Amino acid sequence: MDSMGALKRTHNCNELGLDHLGKECILMGWVLRRRDHGGVIFIDLRDRWGITQVVFNPEVNAAVHAKAHQLRSEWVLAVRGHVARRPDDMENPKLATGAIEVMVDELRILNTSETPPFPLDEDIEVSDTLRLQYRYLDLRRPEIARNLILRHRAVQFVRSYLNDRNFLDIETPMLTRSTPEGARDYLVPSRVNAGRFYALPQSPQLFKQLLMVAGMDRYYQIVKCFRDEDLRADRQPEFTQIDMELSFVDEEDIMSLVEGMIAGLFKEIKGKGPETPFPRMSYDEAMRRFGNDKPDTRFGLELVDLSEVLRGCGFKVFQTALEKGGLVKAINAKGCGNFSRKDLDDLTEYAGRFGAKGMAWIKIKEDEWQSPITKFFSETEIAAMREALAAEPGDLILFAADSAKVVHQVLSELRLELGRRLGLMDADKDNFLWVTDFPLLEYDTEAKRYTAVHHPFTAPCEEDMPLLTTEPEKVKSRAYDLVLNGNEIGGGSIRIHRPDVQREVFKALSIGEDEARDKFGFLLRALDLGAPPHGGLAFGVDRLMMLLTGATSIRDVIAFPKTQKATCPLTDAPSTVSRAQLTELHLRPDWKEKE
Ligand code: AMO
Ligand code: AMP
Repeated sequence: MDSMGALKRTHNCNELGLDHLGKECILMGWVLRRRDHGGVIFIDLRDRWGITQVVFNPEVNAAVHAKAHQLRSEWVLAVRGHVARRPDDMENPKLATGAIEVMVDELRILNTSETPPFPLDEDIEVSDTLRLQYRYLDLRRPEIARNLILRHRAVQFVRSYLNDRNFLDIETPMLTRSTPEGARDYLVPSRVNAGRFYALPQSPQLFKQLLMVAGMDRYYQIVKCFRDEDLRADRQPEFTQIDMELSFVDEEDIMSLVEGMIAGLFKEIKGKGPETPFPRMSYDEAMRRFGNDKPDTRFGLELVDLSEVLRGCGFKVFQTALEKGGLVKAINAKGCGNFSRKDLDDLTEYAGRFGAKGMAWIKIKEDEWQSPITKFFSETEIAAMREALAAEPGDLILFAADSAKVVHQVLSELRLELGRRLGLMDADKDNFLWVTDFPLLEYDTEAKRYTAVHHPFTAPCEEDMPLLTTEPEKVKSRAYDLVLNGNEIGGGSIRIHRPDVQREVFKALSIGEDEARDKFGFLLRALDLGAPPHGGLAFGVDRLMMLLTGATSIRDVIAFPKTQKATCPLTDAPSTVSRAQLTELHLRPDWKEKE
């Protein structure tokens, strides 16, 4: 192996072109591919910026050519040479440097490499675990590296947008008390305070509110948040938020600020930004038409409520659901009347995963409604359904009958599945949607108490305040979510800034005086000491980048992500620790140590 000597890099591997013909250059990078063409050796040299073809010709320099024979994939090189035009038929229009090649005069091997555990130059399937175990190799692949580069640009754009508008970037603690955002906390035991624990923040919610009480007026932070929850393709145990908070504002101020930021961001990264203002939809309308609070509005297949039409129908399953106060809703899967028995069985199985006890269906034919359940409906009922569903020959109607919650869950998932199967999710569309007028509280049937739909610091709508003690579920909040193509990319609210209102909301959440004082005493105290009206919002950077880059998982936009089981195959975290460490932290484990 050679030392670097006096060689200094002059260009990166994406820079040289016809303007540089004849110039001397020094490039450094990794061997992506090596081709031996009848004596002449071609290397595709790769760095973060791109690829340049470098050529070792025995007739030009026999010694260097001989040395190039030993080069293998992922060795690290420095080459000194001069830029030459490629022969006409050898040009590669796909590469920025595709018109030239570098004829090498001097080769330094800066490092060798063992054969990588997976090839980096081909688009072959590599298991996720292997990719994460060797993430530094995975990141050498341009597709993944590109995502990190775009992420950097996106974050810089957001920073400058907010800096230009007088926001202050202020750090908040990582070792703290947790703010309830609905997930489990990651706890950190305290060594110097036996039996006490910090929580890693689920979000900086309370600190940013305290910064408003402190008069900072406009705060932002690009910040890590930690939530111990069940992971999915769009969830990580640690993830990043663009977190912001403003004083003396209302919903309109925040929404228009954010629309400007997001539209600018999409223009910066994709070259084309969405139109503003973004459309809005109330929570109730979203549930009614799409069955969830983050509708993908790129396609139809909306839910149709048939409860009234079918209230007296002869089909037992529907009747029972309606008698119990539930709903019967259906989707008209346009043009799916040719689905096979197997298609229907698959869909029924799919619906079952979301709690459906069955999935009645009707195929609309020219002369009949083909289905085992048609016989239960009267002429009038069929006519009413036809009208409500705009049913035409060739259509397929899918039904769900159950409690409102199950019906919406099942049909919203069926709708998305049909959207995927029928190719209705146009990748070129960016459908932004504000969802507003959320309920403040929802009843948790297991815990037998109300919980906050957003978080306990969200302001109720002023005019609904009297309902807080009588019909809590009817109280609307001043929360808003921003949805993009069916993904919740951000959410926030106007906050409670009056201590009496905060106390009342705690009461509605069955948080007693003592518990409120113990957990949130510092917040209540701050609200007592001159809190300005304020509100804000937080974006999930990882989700935003997933959508901006077209990645299918947020893992593809995070340098060192965790697996579905919250592990890191690269460092093997979480790991065991010594008994001595635990003792120091005043922890006494009762699990058996592995042999
Ligand atoms: P919320 O809990 O809605 O609000 O979080 C804001 C946004 O963060 C993203 N997000 C996640 N991304 C990846 N992995 C996760 N586990 C994860 N959880 C959430 C989502 C979400 O929209 N403090 C409030 C904000 C506020 O009220 O200002 C909060 O954290 O894109
Ligand atoms: P059954 O009378 O149980 O044979 O059901 C007749 C049809 O109704 C079948 O296609 C079932 O899948 C469907 N079905 C059963 N329960 C429900 C339900 N809760 N919602 C919608 N369809 C159902």
